[in-house]
Amino acid sequence: RGARVVVVGSLNVDATSYVERFPAPGETVTSRAFRTALGGKGANQAVAAHLAGAEVDLVARLGDDANAALALGVLERLGLATAGIGQVADAPTGVAQITVADSGENTVIVTGGANLALDPESLDTERERLASAALVLSQGELPIATIERLVEHCAALGVRLVVNLAPPVAVSAAALAVCDPLVVNEHEARAIGIGAEVAAGAPLDEWRPHAASAVGRVARSVVVTLGAAGAVGASPEGDWAEPAPEVVAVDTTGAGDCFTGTLAAFLAEGRGLAESMRIAVAAGALAVQARGTVDSYAPRATVLAAAALDDEGAPL
Ligand code: RIB
Ligand code: NA
Repeated sequence: RGARVVVVGSLNVDATSYVERFPAPGETVTSRAFRTALGGKGANQAVAAHLAGAEVDLVARLGDDANAALALGVLERLGLATAGIGQVADAPTGVAQITVADSGENTVIVTGGANLALDPESLDTERERLASAALVLSQGELPIATIERLVEHCAALGVRLVVNLAPPVAVSAAALAVCDPLVVNEHEARAIGIGAEVAAGAPLDEWRPHAASAVGRVARSVVVTLGAAGAVGASPEGDWAEPAPEVVAVDTTGAGDCFTGTLAAFLAEGRGLAESMRIAVAAGALAVQARGTVDSYAPRATVLAAAALDDEGAPL
C-alpha cells in the first residue's frame, strides 16, 4: 500500500448540466440540475489513485481565478499533495462544459486554459519528483510535446509510465512504445491502429487478440476499455478479458478516469495487470452509478469488496 504515483496531467473545473435531451443547434433547453466540480483527466485519475491507496503527487497547472481556488480546495480536502501544482497569471483554469442527457450520453467542450502552460520545459524541474515515483501516469489533455518530454524523462530515470491516450492526440509512435500500459478506449484504440476492423459493440473476446497483437508493436503493454462491457488487456505475460458487472449507469463522465487511476495505483503496488484490471473495472462500475466524476469514486475497501478480492488480492 501507499506506493508513490506521480500524475502529470490536466486539471479542469467541470460545469455539468443534466438535461432531458441535447439541444439542437440554435435551440435552448432547460437543465434539470447543474453542478460545478473538480474534473480534468489528470485530476480525476489522481483522485482515483489516491482513493485506491496510492500516495499521489499531481503535477498540473491552474489559472489565478475562482476555479483554481475551488480545485485546490477539493484536492486539499481529499488529502492530495498540491506542491506540484503551479498557477499561471495569463490563462484561466481549464474548464469542461458538460451536458449529460437522460439517455446517459454526454457531450463535453474542454477549454485547456492553464493546462496548456504545462510545457515541456516545466517538466525539467520535476525530475526529482518523477524519480521518486513507483509509477508515473499521464493523459492526452496536455500539449503533445509535454507528453513526449515526460516519456523521455521516465525512460531516462527508468520509471514505469502509464499513459491514457484520451483524447487520442498524435503522440509519436516512439513515445507510445514505452507505455506500460497504454490505456485507450475503443475509439482511441482504432485511432492508433489497434482493432481498426473490430465493429462497434463487439464483445471482449473479439478485442482481446487485438490488444495482444499491440504488445511490443504499439506499446509495452496495452489495456482497451470497453465501457459497460469491461476491459481487455495484454502484456508479454499474457492477455486477459475482465467483464464488467451489469449496473444502471446514471453518469459515465470520468468513469474511464476512475478505471485508469485505480489501475495505476494497484500496478504501482506491484500487482499484476490482470488483477489490477479486475479491480479497476469494479471501480469504474461503481463510478457510473452516481453523478459527477470524483464525487462518484469509491474508496479502496468498497472497490475491493465489489471486485470480491481481499486487500492482498485473494478471492473473497
Ligand atoms: O474524463 C472526464 C474529464 O474529461 C472531465 O472531468 C472533463 O474535465 C474532461 O477533461
Ligand atoms: Na459518475
